[in-house]
Parts: sequence; C-alpha cells; structure tokens
Amino acid sequence: MKGLILSGGKGTRLYPLTYTRAKQLVPVANKPVLFRVIETIAEAGITDIGIVVGDTADEIKEAVGRGRRWGVNITYIHQEAPLGLAHAVKISRDFLGDERFVMFLGDNVIQGGIAPLIREFEQSEWNCQVVLTPVDEPQHYGVAELDPDTREIIRLVEKPRNPPSNLALVGIYMFDHHIHEAVNSIKPSWRGELEITDAIQWLIDHGYKVHPYIHRGWWIDTGKPIDMLAANDLVLEEMTEPVIEGYVDRDSTIQGRVTIQKGAEIINSVIRGPAIIGENTRIVNSYIGPFTSIYHDVIIEESEIEHSIVLEGTVIREIPRLIDSLIGRNVELTRSPYKPKAYKMTLADNSKVGVI
Ligand code: DAU
Repeated sequence: MKGLILSGGKGTRLYPLTYTRAKQLVPVANKPVLFRVIETIAEAGITDIGIVVGDTADEIKEAVGRGRRWGVNITYIHQEAPLGLAHAVKISRDFLGDERFVMFLGDNVIQGGIAPLIREFEQSEWNCQVVLTPVDEPQHYGVAELDPDTREIIRLVEKPRNPPSNLALVGIYMFDHHIHEAVNSIKPSWRGELEITDAIQWLIDHGYKVHPYIHRGWWIDTGKPIDMLAANDLVLEEMTEPVIEGYVDRDSTIQGRVTIQKGAEIINSVIRGPAIIGENTRIVNSYIGPFTSIYHDVIIEESEIEHSIVLEGTVIREIPRLIDSLIGRNVELTRSPYKPKAYKMTLADNSKVGVI
C-alpha cells in the first residue's frame, strides 16, 4: 500500500503567516502539521509516500527531505496549479500504479487511531474507505448522506448550501485502482476544480464498495488562525508526561505537563503546562501560561504569554500580557524608549492587532 499527501495550494486563509511559508509547515505544538501526517502514514507500515507539491515545493522539500527521518521514501509530484484533489490523484498515476493507497490532506490534524484503520483497509475488499466526522458547520466541507438503515453512503456533496447531514469528509481517503477511472471520468465543478467528492460519487454510482468510517475523536482542518490555536490546544492537551531536555535554573518553576526542548534555557521564569518551549529558545524573567507553544530560537524576556503560538526567531521583550495570539517568524515585539510615546508597528499585509 502507498501513501499520498496533498500539499499544493496557497493557504490564503492563513495569511499573513503563509505569505512566506507553506501552510502545511506551520507547527502545532512545535511540530509541522505535515510531519504529523507523515508520522501517521509511517505508523500504518507504509514506506512509499508521494507528496503533491505546488508553488511552495522548494520549502516543503527542504523541510521534509527524502523521508529518512521517518524511515520512509518520499517522492515529490509537481502539480502546476491547485486544480482539485481529484486532479492531484490524476497526476500521481505513475507513482501510485495499481496499488491501494491512502490519501491525506497535508493541512489536517486528527486525533490518533487512524493507522489501524489504514491497515484494515489494506486487507479488506472495499474499493474505497472515507473518514467522516460530525461537525457544526457542514456547509464548509464535503458532506456525506448515509442510508438510515444500512449506514452505507448514498450521496456525497462538496460544500452544500443545504447539507444533507452533519457528517463531513475529514480529508483522509483510501482507494484501490478503480479511483483512476473515476478521476478520468468526472468534470470540473462550479469552482473549477476536479473534486475528489465527485470521483467517490462516481464509484458509488458504478456499484463499487465505498465504506464510511465515522471518527469520534477530534479533527481540525488548520485553514484559519483560530483553527491553529484550537489544534495547538488539543495536541498539547494530549502530551501526558513532562519532558525536560533543556536547562531550567533554580529560580524557575515548571508546573504540570511542560516540554522543554534541547538547548532551551529557562531563567527566573514560570512555565505552566500544558506548554512546549522549543530548541535553543531563551525565556528570561517571564511567565508562559497554559496552552502555549514557543518554537525554536525564540527570545522572551520580561513578558507574560498565554494560549498562544510563537514561531521561530521571534523576540518578545517587556510585553506585560499577550494572549490568544499567533506570532510569526522573526517578529520583534518590544517596548520603544523613543519619543513620541506611541505604538510603532511594521505589520505585514492582513495582520491583525488588538491594542488596549
Ligand atoms: O478539510 C476537509 C475538506 O477538504 C473536505 O471536507 C472537502 O471535501 C475537501 O474538498 C477539502 O476541502 P478544502 O476546500 O478545505 O480543500 P483545500 O483547497 O483547502 O485543500 C486541502 C489540501 O489539499 C491543502 O493542503 C492543499 C491541498 N491541495 C488542494 C488542491 C485544491 C492540493 O495539493 N492540490 C489541489 O489541487
């Protein structure tokens, strides 16, 4: 069985963080979302993984490499434009051959337990298996309608105005080779994309066995900044053991489930978990509150931060209270001693700042 991860597309909804960065590489609890997807596929025993890449190909290749870190072999497949999830399958035909495969969207974070499901599909006689989960706003997703008696899928619709159920497709799909005929038979949708939802509907209409699996844990499509914070909360919540690999001085207090990564230094500070402090990051005279991920090579001095994500290379000094924030890479957030006394900002397009 093979794995296919879709990491093309632009990530416009995550601007400004993704002006300079592929959305699949934004870290959740200090690990890029794409790395979490690769881990899940590797856990299912799959070693041949294709990654579909677009404009951000170079950055993804640099971060992931050939996959040795996970004991897998990565093949990159170039998609000239994001023409749809079924288009991505179409251009991956040479890589996939006639083997069964699991397809993951590279920007989704899902609670564990998916690896056994993949292994089960490998042994099954189903032609396709889709993972569904109940959601509050199904109109934003692909939605499945199930037969109330047999619980088989009757119909799939992409982002329906009137959703027939609250069961969304979570972006994890398993196929056998019949999907190739399906993606070659469908036409682009109203949004100009070859939809995987339509290809699966084609399989159903042609009598193939499409099996629904209903996932009961959490799942987050990290499309928007608020989703990143929610995903960060959930993943941090699951980190059960404190792990201290960096240096904590005697004047600091570490409370609860806190991970301090290699080379990090905590000086005269309080870190209250669940929280993670990245490699070579320095926290001095500060408080880091629950549900916070501070990435690698960050400096935080004389500040208090809670329920936030801070990315690499950023410096935060003398900021009394920062909460619910998503701070990008190499940002400087400091007090200015110069007159006139005022907020002085250099913000990227689409930045959001709430001052008090
Ligand atoms: O998140 C779940 C939803 O994902 C499903 O419920 C929908 O049925 C499915 O169509 C998809 O909808 P989105 O509109 O959220 O997909 P998005 O355009 O965000 O793309 C998802 C991922 O696939 C993202 O990592 C980019 C990548 N992608 C997307 C397209 C359209 C590609 O690699 N190539 C593409 O052509």
